[in-house]
Amino acid sequence: MEGVLRILVLAVFLVVFVESRNKSPLLDDDHAISRNKAAECVFGKQIRELGSQWIPDLGVPIGVLYCMKCECLPIQKKRRIVAKVQCRNIKSECPEPSCDEPVLLPGRCCKSCPGDDHNPDIIDIVPQNAADDDEISNKHFAALLTGRSSLDLHNHSWSDDFNKNNVVATGRFTFHRKNLHFSFYISEKAARPRSLHFIDHQGNILEEFILSHAGGLVNSLYQNATRKVCGIWRRLPKGYRHLLKEEKMYVVLIWGNKDTEFTLSGRVMRYLALGSEQFSSLLEPAPGTDSMMMAGAGGTAIVSTSSSLSPVLHLAIIFNGLFTNIDDVEVPLNVMLVLEEKKQVILQENIIVHQPATDLNLIELSSTVSQADLRSLSRGRLVVTVSSVSKPEALRLSGNVITKITCEIFQTTLSSEKHSQDGDSGLAWMYLNNQGSLIYNVQVDNLDSDTYHLMTLTDPSGKKKAEVYAPFHKGWANGTEEKMAHKIIDPLYNGKLDMSIVIANDTLHGYLSPKLVADARDAPAPVLLKRENYTLPSSVVGIVWISVDNDCHFHYDVSISGLGHDRKLELYMEMYPIIAPGAPYIQKHLEDFQGNQVEGSPVEALSKEELDRLDGGVTFIKVKDIVSQVILLSATLPKMQLPLTCRSPFTDNNVPTLLDNPLTLPTEECFFEGKFYKKDTSWESTKNPCQTCFCEDGTSKCDFMPCPKIDCPQNNITMTSGECCPVCSNQHATKSGSNKCTFNGRIYSAGSKFYPFLIPTGFDTCTECFCNPKSLEIECKRLDDNEKNCCRNCKNINSSASTSNDDGITFIQNKYGSKHKEDNGKPPALIMKEGGCRNQNDERKPYPNGSKFHPFLASLGEYKCVTCTCHNGSPTCVRQRCEWKTCKKLFDFRRERRAKKMPMDLSDYCCTVKECKRMRHRKKVEERTSHTQ
Ligand SMILES: *[C@@H]1O[C@H](CO)[C@@H](O)[C@H](O)[C@H]1NC(C)=O
Ligand SMILES: *[C@@H]1O[C@H](CO)[C@@H](O)[C@H](O)[C@H]1NC(C)=O
Ligand SMILES: *[C@@H]1O[C@H](CO)[C@@H](O)[C@H](O)[C@H]1NC(C)=O
Ligand SMILES: *[C@@H]1O[C@H](CO)[C@@H](O)[C@H](O)[C@H]1NC(C)=O
Ligand SMILES: *[C@@H]1O[C@H](CO)[C@@H](O)[C@H](O)[C@H]1NC(C)=O
Ligand SMILES: *[C@@H]1O[C@H](CO)[C@@H](O)[C@H](O)[C@H]1NC(C)=O
Repeated sequence: MEGVLRILVLAVFLVVFVESRNKSPLLDDDHAISRNKAAECVFGKQIRELGSQWIPDLGVPIGVLYCMKCECLPIQKKRRIVAKVQCRNIKSECPEPSCDEPVLLPGRCCKSCPGDDHNPDIIDIVPQNAADDDEISNKHFAALLTGRSSLDLHNHSWSDDFNKNNVVATGRFTFHRKNLHFSFYISEKAARPRSLHFIDHQGNILEEFILSHAGGLVNSLYQNATRKVCGIWRRLPKGYRHLLKEEKMYVVLIWGNKDTEFTLSGRVMRYLALGSEQFSSLLEPAPGTDSMMMAGAGGTAIVSTSSSLSPVLHLAIIFNGLFTNIDDVEVPLNVMLVLEEKKQVILQENIIVHQPATDLNLIELSSTVSQADLRSLSRGRLVVTVSSVSKPEALRLSGNVITKITCEIFQTTLSSEKHSQDGDSGLAWMYLNNQGSLIYNVQVDNLDSDTYHLMTLTDPSGKKKAEVYAPFHKGWANGTEEKMAHKIIDPLYNGKLDMSIVIANDTLHGYLSPKLVADARDAPAPVLLKRENYTLPSSVVGIVWISVDNDCHFHYDVSISGLGHDRKLELYMEMYPIIAPGAPYIQKHLEDFQGNQVEGSPVEALSKEELDRLDGGVTFIKVKDIVSQVILLSATLPKMQLPLTCRSPFTDNNVPTLLDNPLTLPTEECFFEGKFYKKDTSWESTKNPCQTCFCEDGTSKCDFMPCPKIDCPQNNITMTSGECCPVCSNQHATKSGSNKCTFNGRIYSAGSKFYPFLIPTGFDTCTECFCNPKSLEIECKRLDDNEKNCCRNCKNINSSASTSNDDGITFIQNKYGSKHKEDNGKPPALIMKEGGCRNQNDERKPYPNGSKFHPFLASLGEYKCVTCTCHNGSPTCVRQRCEWKTCKKLFDFRRERRAKKMPMDLSDYCCTVKECKRMRHRKKVEERTSHTQ
C-alpha cells in the first residue's frame, strides 16, 4: 500500500514538474495558450508518440532517473482521446535477484545477477522515426461527407430534414512522412465549417482542428481564394496510422456552436484512382430533382487524363443516394460529361451498379476524348452528371469538374543561366484556382523596370509550352493566366515543369515543384532569400515561408538552391525591434540542416518578446555555413500580421508608436534619438550636449546639467562652444599643448566647474568637480551643504575610503586601484598593450587587464552599484542586482531618517525606492497566495 502511495506521489511530482517546465513563457496561467494537441505528449522539449515509453532524462542537475518509467498514454476525456505523460517508480517492481551478490549495472534501476534479463527497467526503445514501408505505398485517401455517410455521433435520431439544405463535402488526404495533409471542397451553400474532427468508428475524437474564427473567416489567402479547407495533422501515432491503413478512421466537419451544431461525416478510404487525380468534382443533387428522395445524397469524382495522341479520360465516382430500392441487385445508372455552355455531350455511358449501398458506391469508366475536350476540362467548363436510368429527373447528381481538391502550390527559385556573380535571381510561386486559372507571383531581385517580360512554362520534352507576358511592377509580376493549356497540368503536378523568364539579356530558370499547403506554406506569400555576399554565384538563392498560427506557434519552410547537398548549414533568425544603430536583437536558432529543403514547427511557442519583434519589428532569416561561419543567404521579413491571439494586449490608446514615444519599446535597452543604448549606461543627447541621459529598464531618464557658481567678474566669464558651463577667461593652462581635462569621455576647459552625472540619480549637485588648469586633472569635492541636503552621513565623512587633503579636495580614485599597486609602476602604454582598459577619468591611469573597477567614481567612492571588469582591452560592466535584503536596509534607513527629519541620500543602496516598492508589493502578493493555498 505504502509503495503504491509513493509511486503516486512521485508521479504527481513528475507531471507537475514537467508541465511547469513546459509552460509557455509567453503568458501567465490565466491566459496560458496551450497547444491544441491531443494525440501526443510533450516531455521536456521532446515530443513523444502516443503509446511510447521512455526513461526520463530531466537534464542538469537531476539527470536520468533510471527508476522511473514514463509512458505517453491515451486518456479518454468525454469523447476526446488525449495523450498524457504518466511516470511511475519501477523500483518496487524489481524482482528478487536470483543470486547472493547482485550488482547494479550502470543505467539500470534494479540490481541484477548475470542472466537476469526480464527486469522492468529494460525498455524496448522503438526508434521514433521508424517508418513502415507499406505506409508509404498507400498515401492517398478520400472521404465523401453527406447526410447518408454521416455517423450518428450524438445518438440523436435526426430527422431527414436536419440537413435540409443538403450540404455535401468531400476530402482528400495525403500521407507524407508521418503527417497527414487534408483538404476539403464543401457545397457553396455552406459557410466554412468551424472545426474538423478525426474520429474512430465509436465516435471518439482522435484529433481536432479549428478551421475558422468568428463569422466563418479564415486568415489564409489561399484557402479563402480557393474555398478549400487545408491543413495538416502532424506526427500521426502508430496506432492511428493503422486505423488509417485499415480504413477505420472518419472525418467530421462541424458548423455552428454547441446548441445549433451541425455535422457531416464520412469514412476515410483508399481509392486507386487518387494516385493520378488531376481534377475533382463535388456532386450535389441537381436542380429540379426530388428533394425528399435525394435527401442526404452526394458524391465526388476523381478525374485523370493521359495526354497521348489519342487522349483518354478516366472517371472514378464515389456517391450515394440514386437508388429507390436498396434491395435491388443490379441498378443501371447513366454517367455523362457535358460541355454545358454548348450542350455538347463529351462522354455518356450506362453503368450497372451491383448491390448498391446506402452510404458509398464506386463506379469507374474511361473513354477517349479530343484535345479540345481536354482544353475545356482544364478550364473548368465540364459538368459531370450521374442519374438513375429509371427516374433521371428525380434522381440525379451533378457537379463541375474543377481543379484537384488537394491544397497545392507550385514554387521555384529562379537563377540566371549564366551562373556567374552578376546574374539575377528570384522566385516564383503559383497555384490553380477553382476555375483552372493559374494565379502566379514572380519576383526578380533588383529589377527596376516596369515592363512585360516573357515567362515560359516548358515540359521536359521541350514541346509543351505555355507562354505568358508577365507585367512587372517594382520587381514583382502578379497575374492570372486564364487560358491554361491542358498539357502542362501533368508536368506541373509532377514537378517537371521548367519555368523561365527573360530579363534583358539574361534568362532566369527554375523547376516548379508542388508543395502541399499547410502551416508555413499557408502564409500570404513567401520571401526571397538572397545571397548575402555578391561573390557567391547568382544560383545561390532560396525561398522562405514563415507563419505564426493561432496558438502562437511558429512554422517555417525553406527551399534553397545553388549550394549543393553536402554543406552543413544553420538556419536562424535575428529579430530587431527596429533598425537603428546599436539596436538589440534576439538571435533565435531554428535548425541545423544539410541539403536544400528544411521545414519545422518548433514545439515551444514563441516568447512574448519574440512575438512582439515579429509583429512590430524587423526580422532577418539567415542561412549560415556552419564550417566557415559565413552567412550565405538572408531574407528580411517586414512586420508580420500575427493572429490577434498572439498580439500584445495593447489597446488602441497605448499602442506604442516609435516616433511619438520612443520610451516604451519592450526591451531592456533604451531607444533615444534614433539610437539604442544598453541598460544602465549613460550618454549625452546628440541634440543638446548639456542633456545627459541614462537607461533604466528600457526607459531613458534625462537630466539637464546645472552649472556650479563660478567666482569671477562678469566681464571675464566666457562660454566655450560644445561645453555647458561658463568658464573664467583668466584661467590658463600652465601646461603646454592642450588646455582641457577629460572626464568620462567628456571634455572640459581648464578652470571649468561641473557636477558629475550618476546613475540612477542624475547630476549630483552635492559634488563639485573642477578642471585644474595647472595639472589638467579633474578634482572633485563633496559639498557639505545643509541647504542642498548634501549632508550625507556627516559624521562618517572622514572615515570614507577617499583620501582628503587639507583644503577639502578629494581626488578621484579607483577604489580597486590599490589591489593592483604592482601595475601602477608600469607605464600606461605598457598596461594598455597588455590588454588594459582606458580610464575615462584619467588617460594616464589605465585599468590593467583583469582588474575590476567602479566606473564614474568621483570623490564619493560611493558609486559601487556598477562593477566593471577589464578584459583584453574592453570593460564589461554589471550593475549589482537590487536584492530584497538591500531594500530592507533601505527602508530601515529611510524610516530612521524620516523620523529624525534628516536629509538622506539613498544612492548607496544599489536599489531605487521604486524598485524596492515593487519588490515589496510582489512579496506581499506571494505571501497572500501562499496563505490561501
Ligand atoms: C443510443 O440510443 C439508443 C436508443 O435510442 C440506446 O439504446 C443506446 O444505449 C444509446 N447509446 C448511447 C451510446 O448513448
Ligand atoms: C476572401 O475571398 C472573398 C471572395 O473571393 C473576397 O471578397 C475577400 O476579400 C477575401 N478575403 C480576404 C481576407 O482575402
Ligand atoms: C547584358 O549583359 C552584360 C553583362 O552580362 C551587361 O554589361 C549589359 O549591360 C547587359 N545589357 C543589357 C541591355 O542589360
Ligand atoms: C505581388 O505579390 C507579392 C506576394 O506574393 C507581394 O509581396 C507584392 O507586393 C505584389 N506586388 C504587386 C505589384 O502587386
Ligand atoms: C564575401 O566572400 C568573400 C569570399 O568568400 C570574402 O573574401 C569576403 O570577405 C566576403 N564579403 C563579405 C562582406 O562578407
Ligand atoms: C580679466 O581677464 C584679464 C585677462 O584676460 C585680466 O587681465 C584681468 O585681470 C581679469 N580681471 C579680473 C577681475 O580677474
